[in-house]
Amino acid sequence: MKLWGGRFAEGPSAVFERFSGSLDFDRRLIDADIRGSIAFAWALESVGILTETERATLVQAFETLREQARSAHFYDGATDEDVHTLVIRKLKDRAGALADKIHTGRSRNEQVSLDLRLWLREEIDRASALLLALLEALLECARKNPEAIVPGYTHLRRAQAVLWPHYLLAYFEMFARDLERLKQARTRVNVLPLGSGALAGSGFAFDREAIARDLGFASVTNNSMDVSADRDFALDFLYAASTTMLHLSRLAEDWILYSSEEFAWLELADDVTSGSSLMPQKKNPDSLELIRGKSGRVFGDLTALFVTLKGLPSTYNRDLQEDKQPLFDAAHHLTGSLEMMAAVISSARLNPARPASAAEESWAVATDLAEALARNGTPFHQAHQIVGRLVLESLQKGKQPAQWTASELTSFAPEFKAEMIALMNPAQGMRTREIKGGTGPSSVAAALEEAAQRLQSWRL
Ligand code: ARG
Repeated sequence: MKLWGGRFAEGPSAVFERFSGSLDFDRRLIDADIRGSIAFAWALESVGILTETERATLVQAFETLREQARSAHFYDGATDEDVHTLVIRKLKDRAGALADKIHTGRSRNEQVSLDLRLWLREEIDRASALLLALLEALLECARKNPEAIVPGYTHLRRAQAVLWPHYLLAYFEMFARDLERLKQARTRVNVLPLGSGALAGSGFAFDREAIARDLGFASVTNNSMDVSADRDFALDFLYAASTTMLHLSRLAEDWILYSSEEFAWLELADDVTSGSSLMPQKKNPDSLELIRGKSGRVFGDLTALFVTLKGLPSTYNRDLQEDKQPLFDAAHHLTGSLEMMAAVISSARLNPARPASAAEESWAVATDLAEALARNGTPFHQAHQIVGRLVLESLQKGKQPAQWTASELTSFAPEFKAEMIALMNPAQGMRTREIKGGTGPSSVAAALEEAAQRLQSWRL
């Protein structure tokens, strides 16, 4: 069956049908399509196109189709152009000629927009719930080792010591912003396009606000020409998905390193790692590598839709059919990656002795020393020089911070005071960073508490 054909002397070629059909992938929208059509049947009754009985018959038929569509056999032998055509054909099989009325004053152009919005709204809700679980997993992980000290890195070189929870809270902030972005995307998605017709607005006086209420939309779109080509809501989601994947990928990269034999901070659980078919000793972080890999794919999805939309003349063009696969792909890999990452975090074990000794053996305390000198009156640039020379001499002599004594320190440079020797322990220097957003132990404890409260408030 076709939803068009009257003006054609000949039907489409097999090549064109094969090339242009979208049922293979847009069947994912079937539930949204039927829900939208049920709401539309009610709207048709309200403008007098359907009688109450006719509307009841069609809604009943749609409900049955919705049920049947859960079985894969529903699609057996289907050669329809797209999911919208399939649904109307099936409706006709059940309800006969009455089905010919369902598309009155409606275009597939607005139907695509409607279906995508209904589908995407649920995907966003699913992703948001998974993000909340991931945020919780990060806090749990922080609470398991509240006092662990790790070197923080810049340029992947040991920079300054930080608390392990401080490091984890950095990711908490990134994912919290992602949650916010998803929420913002949801408000753009949650607008009813129905009533726009193909591009000029429907010729039937539907109460669009009532349809919106029926389908749970917060508002209705303002301009019918905008609607048929607008995929900004999809781009918003893809961007939110991309930043989330970016953060997941960076966390994955960190943990691939931290769980390596060279770092040996973290032990990833057996059930999220895999072995090698050849090397019996291997325990590989495949879950994290796949998250990192999938992130590239999701960025590709964002780019793909951007490029598809670029240069389209006003309103609907068939190019827009290419909007769906990137969206489906991104949503699938986003939710899968969020779920995987939460499982990796919940089951990982930190071996705090390793990062603690990495922080102690290196000169991660150098900044603490220089700042102590500055606090004591030495201009910072000079303090920097003095500590730089101390580090150089230590490296030349193979001397670690803990091997210095107070008297050696004060005789190295008169600017040093004996009590500054305490700063050779990285745990001491951190106490000078009691500033909001810093790694001072009290600040971090407060930040953890505050993060837990925010998480709680997002749950409500
Ligand atoms: N399958 C099409 C799509 O996804 C439906 C819209 C078709 N509209 C049209 N004017 N050919 O975009």
